[in-house]
Amino acid sequence: MGIEYLEKEQLFRLTTPNTEYVIGITDGIYIGHVYYGKRLGDARCGYLMRTGEHPFTPAQKKREKCSFADTYPWEYSTWGVGDYRESSLNVRTESGYRGCELHYEGYQIIQGKPGLPGLPATFCGEGEQGGGQTLELYAQDPVTGLHVTLRYSVFEDSDALMRSVSCSNRGSQTLYLEKVLSACLDMDCGDWDTLTLHGSWAREHIMDRRELTLGKYLAASARGESGHQVQPFMAVLDRNADQEHGEVYGMHFVYSGNFMAMAEKTQFGALRMVMGINPEGFEWVLEPGADFDAPEVVCVYSDEGLGKMTRTLHDLYRNHLIRSPYLHQKRPILINNWEATYFDFNTEKLLQIAAEAKKRGIEMLVMDDGWFGKRSSDEGSLGDWVVNEEKLPGGLAYLADRLTEMGMKFGIWFEPEMISPDSDLYRKHPEWAVQHPGRELTQSRAQYILDLSRPEVVDYVYESVASILRSANISYVKWDMNRQFTDVGSLYLDGTHQGELFHRYVLGVYRLQERLTAEFPDLLLENCASGGARFDPGMLYYSPQIWCSDDTDAVERLAIQEGTALLYPLSTIGAHVSDCPNHAVGRNTPFQTRGYVALAGTFGYELDITKISPEDQAEVEKQVRLYHRYQPLMREGDYYRLASWKENGTWDCWEVVSKDRSEALVTLIQVLAEPNYHSRRLKIAGLEPDGTYELEGTGQVYSGRLLMYGGLLVERTWGDYTGTLLHFIKR
Ligand code: GLA
Repeated sequence: MGIEYLEKEQLFRLTTPNTEYVIGITDGIYIGHVYYGKRLGDARCGYLMRTGEHPFTPAQKKREKCSFADTYPWEYSTWGVGDYRESSLNVRTESGYRGCELHYEGYQIIQGKPGLPGLPATFCGEGEQGGGQTLELYAQDPVTGLHVTLRYSVFEDSDALMRSVSCSNRGSQTLYLEKVLSACLDMDCGDWDTLTLHGSWAREHIMDRRELTLGKYLAASARGESGHQVQPFMAVLDRNADQEHGEVYGMHFVYSGNFMAMAEKTQFGALRMVMGINPEGFEWVLEPGADFDAPEVVCVYSDEGLGKMTRTLHDLYRNHLIRSPYLHQKRPILINNWEATYFDFNTEKLLQIAAEAKKRGIEMLVMDDGWFGKRSSDEGSLGDWVVNEEKLPGGLAYLADRLTEMGMKFGIWFEPEMISPDSDLYRKHPEWAVQHPGRELTQSRAQYILDLSRPEVVDYVYESVASILRSANISYVKWDMNRQFTDVGSLYLDGTHQGELFHRYVLGVYRLQERLTAEFPDLLLENCASGGARFDPGMLYYSPQIWCSDDTDAVERLAIQEGTALLYPLSTIGAHVSDCPNHAVGRNTPFQTRGYVALAGTFGYELDITKISPEDQAEVEKQVRLYHRYQPLMREGDYYRLASWKENGTWDCWEVVSKDRSEALVTLIQVLAEPNYHSRRLKIAGLEPDGTYELEGTGQVYSGRLLMYGGLLVERTWGDYTGTLLHFIKR
């Protein structure tokens, strides 16, 4: 396990417990891709690069270099020197010449994994420097003086492979980076599909699987954030692959801004996959001596379908990305007042909600949007982070103290990256908004974006949040971001640096959250962006949970959470029980079902608990008990997708099995009832085959084998939107 250099064969071999990645050096100059897949353990694999084949090798066949460049399996593709497939790197010189060719210079194998300056990235587990290794491959372009480091890391306990790229200008002229992606993967292509997660506001992360045909398939954001519309993720998978079978190659970007992910099937039927910062609207000025670090891409290979990719990512993020002390802790059950009151609340109303919630076992009140400035609708005040004493007489301290006396924790909402045209801040600092001089600023939700490339804006934003947190006993922050970029320009950056704004903005967000988590290490931070518009691995580095969608309807959430859980552990998925008819779709679902769906996430409430029926209030108490019982399992266990109503049209089912396989919880939601059918035969996954399991509440005992291979017969329920929990305990 680990990384080794096979000198005779000129190969680098990176191995994880079940996978192997092999890089080869051709003619001492070119860095090529040999193999990625199941463990091979055979040093003779270099021929897989096909460098001996007619007519592509200049050194051997004396043919023109161009045919070589366009077919060689590059580890990192560059623009302008004969490789006409999708490039990963393009650079312009002072004189305006474009193009780049990388020649191998050397390597280093490092124990552990160095961080990426200013960027979120995976890390080795604590105190186990030896638990990970990093390969750095050094290359340079002899013409421009651009030096490039290709970085690959593996961890002892994970089947993921982490990649990133750094550029350094060691020449004497300024270089302009027009495109710097973070990973490129050249492989043979069979009958493959692509899988991406698409959506919109209130319907994020819906799976989209399609045939990969000749040409390019792009998933990208140029909105300034990763976005609701598509997740910074792409997988290519065998056409026959399903949850448990088939080969899958996934790439996931640890970044929160513009990105591109592309799969290209080439003229020779080969596959190139690339991922990195979207080059659209991007240019980075690299002065002599300067460096640029491109963010990290996580690659996962699975030979056991999507389920194994999912579980590899879940474990990677839990063990090597999320830093919050809450990661492995039971989080307080919260009640958020957004859907309960929207902007219409005051201290008295919040305390009424809190008092009723407390009686039912809820542990924290979260005050959402509307507590500051003159904000009584979404029309103004963003940027004026001063408590509205008309709504909250005595300020936050008074409210927080009353809650503390009650035994409730207190959380608060911010949207710190924004500025309303109708705000004291905008009247004082109109130049702080992202803008293109001469062009009318486009409003979105009646707001503009603060220019976080400007250091004093980052300081202002930080102090706005931090001074509030210092002023009262606040345990939790929901950090929101509710619009996408337009009129992309900065009055701070000069003409040559405007192309840096998008990335500098994201670096500003990271700097803010880094400072926040350093000054308030005990704060529970939940990120949010109009629901899940910035649900990405970058933000998870700072917060252990992210609000997943503004759509809280239990049925809609089945598909949204299924897509989210394809990549992210359940412990990260913000999920609440809300009122019916649901505010997003008007649907009525049983209170119990809403609870079962929210249990597969962080769990909390978002309704006026003083107004719901006594039956529903009693149900809250039951759900609170379920939460305390099952949270550790949901948070730490292995997730299996057993059925998807998006695919089958009638029912949904997922399972979480503890790591030691001593218990499993299956949640089954019958979305639509059907008449005159047999019971369902449900195969329970991930158990100990020789173990004996009792289905709680029935006295029935089964072998693991019987449950896994034979299955359990589950009666159909009466009515739509009904839910069933099946808890298996090993005896
Ligand atoms: C966004 C969030 C919601 C809520 C509102 C408040 O839409 O996703 O949960 O906080 O903002 O304005």
